Amino acid sequence: MPNHSRAKDDLLWFAAQIRPFFRNLVLSMLLIASSSLMFLLDPLVLKWMLDVVLPSGDFRLLAFCVGGLLVIYSSRLGLFSLGRIINFRTAQRLAFRLRLRLLDKINGLSADFHETMPVGEKLFRIEQDVDQVAEFGSFVPHLLQAAFNLLFVIVAMSILNFRLVLGIAPLLAFAIYIAVRYQNRLRSSAEVAQERGGLESSFLQEHLASVVQVQLLNGEHGQTESFRELASARMNALDRRNRVEVFFGAWYMAAIAAGTLAVLGYGGHQVFAGALSIGGLVAFYTYLARVFDPLYSTVDIYARFTRVRASIGRIIEIAEQAPSIRESSNAVSLPHRNRGTVRLIDASFAYKPQFPVLSYLALEILQGEKVALVGFSGSGKSTVAKLIARLYDVQAGTVEVNGVDVRHVKLDSLRANVSYLMQEAILFDRSLKENLLLGCPDATDEQVQGALEIAELQDLLSRLPNGWDTRIGPRGTKISGGERQRVILARTLLKKPAVLLLDEATSALDAPAERRILRNLSQCLQHQSIVFISHRISSLHWVDRIAVLHRGAIEEQGSHSELIRKGCLYMSLANSEAPPDKARKPSSGVGLTHANLSLPTD
Ligand SMILES: Nc1ncnc2c1ncn2[C@@H]1O[C@H](COP(=O)(O)OP(=O)(O)OP(=O)(O)O)[C@@H](O)[C@H]1O
Ligand SMILES: [Mg+2]
Repeated sequence: MPNHSRAKDDLLWFAAQIRPFFRNLVLSMLLIASSSLMFLLDPLVLKWMLDVVLPSGDFRLLAFCVGGLLVIYSSRLGLFSLGRIINFRTAQRLAFRLRLRLLDKINGLSADFHETMPVGEKLFRIEQDVDQVAEFGSFVPHLLQAAFNLLFVIVAMSILNFRLVLGIAPLLAFAIYIAVRYQNRLRSSAEVAQERGGLESSFLQEHLASVVQVQLLNGEHGQTESFRELASARMNALDRRNRVEVFFGAWYMAAIAAGTLAVLGYGGHQVFAGALSIGGLVAFYTYLARVFDPLYSTVDIYARFTRVRASIGRIIEIAEQAPSIRESSNAVSLPHRNRGTVRLIDASFAYKPQFPVLSYLALEILQGEKVALVGFSGSGKSTVAKLIARLYDVQAGTVEVNGVDVRHVKLDSLRANVSYLMQEAILFDRSLKENLLLGCPDATDEQVQGALEIAELQDLLSRLPNGWDTRIGPRGTKISGGERQRVILARTLLKKPAVLLLDEATSALDAPAERRILRNLSQCLQHQSIVFISHRISSLHWVDRIAVLHRGAIEEQGSHSELIRKGCLYMSLANSEAPPDKARKPSSGVGLTHANLSLPTD
């Protein structure tokens, strides 16, 4: 996109953001501009004092003059302070609103976005980039002030001596030339600095969330080195941005110096010639500093705008991002919440087009059926679960829940009907009760008790110092991995989903507890269908059917004993040492027999 049209888009976006605060902005603009007016009056009073009051020797006039200056200074102070307070409040409200909207937007984006953009990067955009935009918002009233000052000063100077104004006109042209020349450098250096900031923040976020794991890996030194590289890259980028801004500012200072010399030289000559009074020259000299003041702040605002454009670009990137999983306009709510069926018909999917993960996969799970999905690591089991939960959409074929294509189901209805539990049970640093009731805040005490019993959580509850109300640490780290998984299970039971996808969601439990809990779970969810993904063959005793996934399709299905009898892929999974190709020929030395592969019974 050409640069000017991008700048226009950025400006339009910014204007749209500040529109709700228009009244406050105008008010602070008026206050700040009025304070400027006061600022601009004193050179005229000074001229009057030098040219009229002092030569007259009249004390009353002098007192009047000083009193006038007092009124000017105090009202300037009052108006400016009030303007700043309103301005700051407006900027904070702008930041508050932007942050909420950005978070809301991020919450609506799909799994592919969240699996691609690091958390630190999102955090940086919500925090730092939004702050930049809000800070710029607080500079908008100063833009009006600058324009107003410039106009006032030029008119006043023209009245004092028009020829002198013509003398400094080339300097104004020079200032504009510099702004145009520096535009690209200012913007690109700002963009690089913001980008480096995002990378650093992203690294820190990931690192700080796993310092203990890093310690266990003896990886502190390596991590510090990586941080050093990122932080120094950011520092260099900030240095460069600062250098560009300083050089840019220096040219302005040079213009001011040249203007001052011109005014003093030529103005002095005008005084000799009688075309200008001494008071006029002093007033002109004072105004000269003030013509460059607004010009400099215009340039400063411009430099800030180039900087804020980097932030705007990064915010827009998220704001304009469309979720890849969208609700169709004629989406329906799923009927029969407590009954669940799932059907994948010729489902094909790839995260990246060149690496297909599932191809023409067919799988049907009847109402109330419990199906285990097994396969080697990377065979696509979690992907199947993600398609059923519609974290991703198939590229060909169909996924149906309760007979309806998931793409035609309202997302909230689908989420209410399908629960997807992953191996990593992430809880929040809130009380156990809040964590349990997260998906189902209206659950009755009786329902909660029932869920706790099934998930065998009563022991934990009695051990926690404040029972229910005990906070369980960041990401739930104050309770064990198995306890976290059981809390998530209990939470899901409260929801009673029509389809439950357990993706190694009980892997941290000891085998007897897993067996007990899964048996209780299947009794509680008799009419619901469950997809159980596990590498632990011994935990499959309770399922109705086992489906083996291999090379993106269901390779074989049946009960444990049927599959063992076939002696194909399932057998090599049961004996996880054996590679799949060898497993196809059990006689070639895998050495497994039906007898030594029986499942434990309850
Ligand atoms: N977000 C992703 N982006 C790109 N590729 C992915 C993504 N998630 C998974 N994959 C790839 O897709 C393939 C299937 O992954 P999947 O997680 O479904 O396997 P899995 O059978 O659940 O494995 P495991 O038993 O180890 O959990 C793998 O090759 C994996 O590397
Ligand atoms: Mg998996």
